[in-house]
Amino acid sequence: MSTDQRVTVPGRAGALLAELGDRAVLHDLYDEEGAPVYHAIAGSSPLEVRELVGALRPTVGPILELAAGSGRLTMPLLTLGRELTALELAPGMIRILTERLRAVPAARRDRCTVVPGDMSDFDLDRTFGAVVLGATSVSLLDAPGRAGLYRCVRRHLAPGGRFLLTAVDVADFGSSTTEQVMDVDGSDGTRYRLYEHWTEGADVRTVTVFPQPLEAAAPAITVCTTRIGVLPVAQLETELAHAGMILTDRRPLPPTGGRHHDVLLVAEVAA
Ligand SMILES: C[S@@+](CC[C@H](N)C(=O)[O-])C[C@H]1O[C@@H](n2cnc3c(N)ncnc32)[C@H](O)[C@@H]1O
Repeated sequence: MSTDQRVTVPGRAGALLAELGDRAVLHDLYDEEGAPVYHAIAGSSPLEVRELVGALRPTVGPILELAAGSGRLTMPLLTLGRELTALELAPGMIRILTERLRAVPAARRDRCTVVPGDMSDFDLDRTFGAVVLGATSVSLLDAPGRAGLYRCVRRHLAPGGRFLLTAVDVADFGSSTTEQVMDVDGSDGTRYRLYEHWTEGADVRTVTVFPQPLEAAAPAITVCTTRIGVLPVAQLETELAHAGMILTDRRPLPPTGGRHHDVLLVAEVAA
């Protein structure tokens, strides 16, 4: 990452980066170095998975999962016994997902097709009974990116198909500038410290991940960061309507103990 991107890390995480100086090697959370860190801290979030799987049950036909990442949702979605296409942009994430799929029984693996692609601009030349975008990843896209996403989703939905996405309930963020610090035991045996920084009214929050503790003698320390949009659900609903889709369901996801609550949205192509 460039010095400019380093400067955009705000709050205590930014101060810590400055303190580490050249010893800190900053990466995007989804690039080649960041992907294994994301995978180690992503966990399994059984609550989101359970809600998504439940909401998928009334749908029929193949499923398209967008921004599939390293497969946190892909693996449980495959247990539905349906054909699944997993689209993902980052090569490092695709590599981990592909490795994970190699380890599952062939009968299950053969139902999954991994497609490199951009969720805001793709053409798979087929339709699906459901399109899923979990992990509140819609907020990774800017406004033109979201317009592209809705256009592509609409084009890939079979008649009666559903678009399921999760989003952060922005009202829960609290007020003024806040920085939440959370320690997570990664599945790779490393402990990580996550800083999530958001200023009330700002349209992005920044998540930065450091290994914990910081080794005083280490010549290089990998630090990963990502900027995530803050999107009120009402705005998403308006954007979906402009794209010719209507929200048919909105349910809060069970709290995970984190700072904010997520919601599951279900949309269909407007009649
Ligand atoms: C928060 S992670 C979620 C990954 C996975 N769905 C999960 O639940 O763990 C967001 C993912 O979106 C991917 N991503 C970001 N922008 C994308 C885009 N434009 N098209 C497809 N994937 C994208 C990132 O590489 C990353 O794997």
